[in-house]
Amino acid sequence: MRHPGCWKMLTVAMCMALLGCLQAQELRGHVSVILLGATGDLARKYLWQGLFQLYLDEAGKDYSFSFHGAALTSTKQGQAFIAKVLESLSCPEDVAPDRCAELKGQFQRLSAYRHLATSEDYMALSKDIEAQVQHGGLREAGRIFYFSVPPFAYADIARNINSSCRPGPGAWLRVVLEKPFGHDHLSAQQLATELGGFFREEEMYRVDHYLGKQAVAQILPFRDQNRKALDGLWSRHHVERVEIIMKETVDAEGRTSFYEEYGVIRDVLQNHLTEVLTLVAMELPHNISSSESVLQHKLRAFRALRGLQKGSAVLGQYQAYSEQVRREQQKPDSFRSLTPTFAGVLVHMDNLRWEGVPFILMSGKALDERVGYVRILFRNQAYCVQNDEHWVADQSQCLPRQIVFYIGHGELGSPAVLVSRNLFRPSLPSESWKGLGARPGLRLFGRPLSDFYAYRPVREQDAYSVLISRIFHGRKDSFVTTENLLASWGFWTPLLDSLAHEVPRLYPGGAENGHLLDFEFSGAQLYFSQRQPERLVPGPGPAPMPSGFQVLKAKYRESPLISAWPEELIAKLADDIEATAVRAVRRFGTFHLALSGGSSPVPLFQQLATRHYGFPWAHTHLWLVDERCVPLWDPESNFQHLQTHLLQHVRVPYYNIHPMPVHLHQRLCAEEDQGAQTYASEISALVANSSFDLVLLGMGADGHTASLFPQSPSGLDGEQLVVLTESPSRPFQRMSLSLPLINRARKVAVLVMGRVKREITMLVSRVGHEPKKWPISGVLPSSGQLVWYMDYEAFLG
Ligand code: BG6
Repeated sequence: MRHPGCWKMLTVAMCMALLGCLQAQELRGHVSVILLGATGDLARKYLWQGLFQLYLDEAGKDYSFSFHGAALTSTKQGQAFIAKVLESLSCPEDVAPDRCAELKGQFQRLSAYRHLATSEDYMALSKDIEAQVQHGGLREAGRIFYFSVPPFAYADIARNINSSCRPGPGAWLRVVLEKPFGHDHLSAQQLATELGGFFREEEMYRVDHYLGKQAVAQILPFRDQNRKALDGLWSRHHVERVEIIMKETVDAEGRTSFYEEYGVIRDVLQNHLTEVLTLVAMELPHNISSSESVLQHKLRAFRALRGLQKGSAVLGQYQAYSEQVRREQQKPDSFRSLTPTFAGVLVHMDNLRWEGVPFILMSGKALDERVGYVRILFRNQAYCVQNDEHWVADQSQCLPRQIVFYIGHGELGSPAVLVSRNLFRPSLPSESWKGLGARPGLRLFGRPLSDFYAYRPVREQDAYSVLISRIFHGRKDSFVTTENLLASWGFWTPLLDSLAHEVPRLYPGGAENGHLLDFEFSGAQLYFSQRQPERLVPGPGPAPMPSGFQVLKAKYRESPLISAWPEELIAKLADDIEATAVRAVRRFGTFHLALSGGSSPVPLFQQLATRHYGFPWAHTHLWLVDERCVPLWDPESNFQHLQTHLLQHVRVPYYNIHPMPVHLHQRLCAEEDQGAQTYASEISALVANSSFDLVLLGMGADGHTASLFPQSPSGLDGEQLVVLTESPSRPFQRMSLSLPLINRARKVAVLVMGRVKREITMLVSRVGHEPKKWPISGVLPSSGQLVWYMDYEAFLG
């Protein structure tokens, strides 16, 4: 220890102060709070004030306290810093000045700085705490270590606490961690495993400061206290959409080294907005004061999130950003960043409550205003006969109906809970929420404030103060558990990966953004409402696509070829399939469609699901061209793809859906189970002449089609209609329609997309009928028609 004499004096002073605070009543124990990074920015701005608030709330109750500000700064500097911070602390308005001065004096005496670096320092700290407790004749209740330090310092500190600074038996340890908690699923997992080596799950409190924002912290209590009114409203039957928004005017200047690695999705959406989303979407536990059940319900909400596609997001970057990165990180003039500073993301939940309801998450820097809110907009199913001048806020069902948890800033300037008067009069705890006074002229979400029952906190509290109190009370549901953290990264990482090379739309910043960043959605896709404008400055990446595209018609292997840009190609193929379906239903009463798996058909499924209202789904039978030998619920299953991207959005009768029987008797593709024969019999029984109306195929880079791979011993010729095959890549076992069955179809469409297919496309254009080498070359319907659909990249390279 560097200054033993000085520390002893401090200990004695603290003990005196402690005793002074004991008052007559008996204490349940002593709590030591160790703030690591006590001289940092976060500590200066929020944490010391939060600790003081804790003291204000708890002083004279059941516990005694000591506060240790720790950092690597020299003792002298640290002490000076802390003295200054402590001097600046303030009390809430409702504490009388005398009382405030008295409590502040006590808090100052209970707080001290200490240099904390080596394991010896940690050992000494532990001894000092023990001595202090003993001197005061107290019992140790617990220790809180608040990590307000960068993540690279976590492991060392954690090791030191674990080995030298745990409290003795009967007392608890709580460590508080600040984000970032990893960069993606893998790094979050590594960090979690590392920390898990030092601390038990119940000891870790990962802070998401949005969970401490008063309006956010009120979401569950509000849902709980208004169960009766909300029971009938909180679902897809009534909610039109949910908006979860955090707009900022500041930009990332001064912190681009952090920001460049993270970007807005990792910085805000993955954590703050997702946490809020789960609070809105989760099933409400019977007892919301049970942390455990809140956390379990939250985890279930994570599991119901539907996977995101690249098209689920729009990205932007304020125009000055790249220049700021160049300047702050000494990058060359040619450097252009792809980091998004703005993102809108469309999220859906796959559960009965929320199926089909769009959850819009949006955040950005350098926008026109600073504001955060969650807005639940309800459908309006009423028609009002009288002129709208006669509509009365609390009676008319024709006025918009919304509930808003207003997180802060914006026009209102404070947190609030707003409920449209035509919904219901909500109940809020009167000791902590009060009615918001009239603000004539103020309009929110398109309506005058007077249209809402509006409440604001009786006493506004900073998020950190709220969270510090919850740490003290062991309310784990206000923090991010390892399971929830990994579930969130599991949800966001695939989207982040798919967007890694996406060029964000540049925006000028502030009010000048105009409508440039407005977006809209259709199905699962999100688009900017305005087409890509002229580039503001030359950006990286490919030039915008030509808008005046053409669909090219030609021949390929002597059959018709249709080629276009991907979007138009998919649109054309979807139109052709619909036309074929309509014709088949008109002639035969049914349409038998066999679909392939893989990634190419996904946009086609989405197109069919969202744009083809005239499709005769009720008379369509859906068959699988091939399947991987995995359970049907496995994400790798072709059927699962079909289910996710098409079936759940359209109305095909259940008995018309024919997944391949790859999973019989609890095993996968066992010969003895005769799955292939069963499927063949089903086809023979239902499809006239076993002749599908349309078979959709793809072409692999090795020339495979369906699950018929080069040199396949079965399925390329012979009598069998359906065969078990082997793939060179995982999962190795497959089931597939055979070439002879495919060639009985009335129409076969082969969809080939992407540059990776360029080589095989060239090769196959030259080869003859050689299915052993290139199974695709064996596709030649005996009396039906073959049409190739290739995008420009596959066809022209
Ligand atoms: C932080 C982000 O978590 O939240 C910042 O890292 C962002 O980029 C901040 O500015 C916003 O928090 P608040 O409390 O100001 O809304």
